[in-house]
Amino acid sequence: MVSSTLDDALRRNAALYEHLKPVISENEWATMVEDIDAIVRLKKERNAVILAHNYMRPEIFHGVADVRGDSLALARKATAIQADVVVMAGVHFMAETVKLLNPSRTVLIPDPLAGCSLADSITPEDVHALRAQYPGVPVVTYVNTSAAVKAVSDLCCTSGNAKKIVESLNVPRVIMIPDEYLAQNTARQTKVEIVTWKGHCEVHERFTPDDIRLFREQTPGVTILAHPECPPSVVEGADYTGSTADMMRWINEKKPEKAVLLTEGSMSDNVSIQAPQTTFIRPCELCPHMKRITLAGIRKSLETMETKVDVPEALAEPARRAVERMIAVS
Ligand code: 13P
Ligand code: SF4
Repeated sequence: MVSSTLDDALRRNAALYEHLKPVISENEWATMVEDIDAIVRLKKERNAVILAHNYMRPEIFHGVADVRGDSLALARKATAIQADVVVMAGVHFMAETVKLLNPSRTVLIPDPLAGCSLADSITPEDVHALRAQYPGVPVVTYVNTSAAVKAVSDLCCTSGNAKKIVESLNVPRVIMIPDEYLAQNTARQTKVEIVTWKGHCEVHERFTPDDIRLFREQTPGVTILAHPECPPSVVEGADYTGSTADMMRWINEKKPEKAVLLTEGSMSDNVSIQAPQTTFIRPCELCPHMKRITLAGIRKSLETMETKVDVPEALAEPARRAVERMIAVS
């Protein structure tokens, strides 16, 4: 028998479930709906907003998020936040970026261990060594880095604006850190020479040209979209490449009959709800860091006001400058 509180929560959220039904079973929904109810109440009590990256599971992305998007959109929208509390449903570097742009607000991350293999691949000392090796060459830093690395960079970029940022400097050569593949994929679109670093995304580096061949063989007519963190050999074989938001926009505009997104798995669930005309063939690559963020974790974070994200002022000032320069250019 369904308990009366669960029953009430199911009734209150019936319209939301209609929206999520294609990707969440009734049994799963029954385990989620009380957390959703509690989060909606806590957001009001705390005057809080939830920012969710496109890789969040659909119950977070469509269920409780107030602002959704790719890293660039989240960084931009973070500048206009009015709430007292911001919960980042994403990974740690994203929460740090929000804190940089909103120093007076409380920024919470439901799990501080939600890291990123790219952010872990480079330190400020590595950046100093690169600068010594390439004197005078500006450093363009992917937002998937710690605030400490941003603080020793000239300006930031995301996967949605990398070419524009590199070209905005009007120099023949830039250092682009830490994603080797994003740097190589950007280098193919510009005359600017790009010095790369050896960082990789542990999710996107797993896609291969063989996967593309198999998708095309098994699903004739399928459209293949790849994130620029994939190796260049994969991007070359895809029909379109772009940031997570660019991929969503492309699907909504072109409405392909069948598509595969070579990126984190939850993206396909999230886009499929907005684009029911397209059948998604779903690779099951999941980011273990993004998946640390759960509804239960968001609820606990709002109840306990933990874990707060802070950036020491000595780092915050130069790191903020690098992010703000990017926002101004893009
Ligand atoms: P986007 O900026 O395209 O959302 O990418 C962020 C990310 O972490 C991709 O793995
Ligand atoms: Fe980092 Fe890759 Fe996870 Fe994105 S998907 S947060 S780049 S490890």
